[in-house]
Amino acid sequence: MSRPAESIHGQWSSRWAFILAATGAAVGLGNIWKFPYIAGENGGGAFVLVYLLCIACIGIPVMMAEIMIGRRGRQNPVNSLRSLADEEKRNPHWEYLGWSGVIAGFLILSYYSVIAGQAMAYVFRSFSGVFEGVTADGAQSIYASLTGDPERLLAWHTVFMVFTMIVVSRGVKGGLEKSVKFLMPALFAILLLLVGYAANTGEYFNQAIDFLFQPDFSKLTGEGILIAMGHAFFTLSLGMGAIMVYGAYLPKDVSIAKVSISIAIADTLVALLAGMAIFPLVFANGLEVGAGPGLIFETLPIAFGHMAGGALFGGLFFLLLVFAAWSSAISLIEPAIAWLVENRNISRKRACVYAGFATWLLGLLTVFSFNIGQHWLLFGKTMFELLDYVTANIMLPLGGLSIAIFSGWILAKNSSQQELAIQHPILYHLWRILIRYITPAAVIVVFLKVTGILN
Ligand code: PFF
Repeated sequence: MSRPAESIHGQWSSRWAFILAATGAAVGLGNIWKFPYIAGENGGGAFVLVYLLCIACIGIPVMMAEIMIGRRGRQNPVNSLRSLADEEKRNPHWEYLGWSGVIAGFLILSYYSVIAGQAMAYVFRSFSGVFEGVTADGAQSIYASLTGDPERLLAWHTVFMVFTMIVVSRGVKGGLEKSVKFLMPALFAILLLLVGYAANTGEYFNQAIDFLFQPDFSKLTGEGILIAMGHAFFTLSLGMGAIMVYGAYLPKDVSIAKVSISIAIADTLVALLAGMAIFPLVFANGLEVGAGPGLIFETLPIAFGHMAGGALFGGLFFLLLVFAAWSSAISLIEPAIAWLVENRNISRKRACVYAGFATWLLGLLTVFSFNIGQHWLLFGKTMFELLDYVTANIMLPLGGLSIAIFSGWILAKNSSQQELAIQHPILYHLWRILIRYITPAAVIVVFLKVTGILN
């Protein structure tokens, strides 16, 4: 299999368009919904520090590797990996790494869409003033009435999937790029507004800063480290081919190292800002930081219900969440769409109908996990929890590990050198050391520790 000089799907119109699109893929529910609650559950500061270390030492090198493979292969992750392996006269089975990515994207989107649907429902609830003066019990029962009703959850999941597939069906320039040009600036503006509000809570804002940035290592567990590492992959959308396929649409002259660093910084900034917007409200209202996945749906409405302009700020907050989820959702399904178009020779629109329908169907498992299926447990987890755990904590880190091995050990040195085109030789060597030794060692050690093989 030879590799084409250009992607058949076209390419991003500029370096900026790519940065916006990849930041859009990275910034999502992971930053605003998941990061605050896992930081809360794992004790704050020390967890945040491990997470930041993982972003810098594993996330950025793996992101560079993914973009490099994508741009060199110029096709969907399955074909790109295969043609690069062929070119290096290596085992063509590396294409299975591409498959694992396509499948992970499909699995993640199936539950991602249900959570994004809940955020959509909350936009309307908040703007209409439902949360005014609400008590803890009241907020819980509002959330329970949404999640307990499979029909309503299903309706919102359907709306979100349709929105996502409409954007994807319009293609790289007309859909993906156009949508992020509006979504990303809107997202940053809303987030800054919310942090500005939180900063006015005085001592509670300081308490939130302490919580996020003062490490207390006694609160950090082995499981916490795995979650921090898994989240570094999840939040940067790594280990599953989304960034790889975006890299396939990247113009040749763009510096991969520079864009990767920009994307990682922007993503981390959004997560930390989201923490700074959320935790002051949690502290000011005496709420529970370790409330889990319900943190923003059950806890924050109490805060919004008791502040001046709360209906507006609350509505904006959930709108922010929907925008963030939307620009990530399109990247989750793009590897599958690119594969269908390139390998099955069907139109992008048709590919969207097939892949969108399959994802929607699988999403029913998550819909039911909140209500009629909440007792369908496997390994003690609901179907939703299991999908989240297996993808974020197992598939993405293993995918990232394999990508590191592929780009550090399988791809010839001059291939990566040529594609990355890093001007300073020292920086290229630093990348190569991180990708050949540090990333694989870190992922393997964390895995052995969590499985109990290493004590
Ligand atoms: N990075 C997204 C988030 O933080 O919500 C989730 C995600 C999107 C993961 C795309 C993987 C992916 F390919």
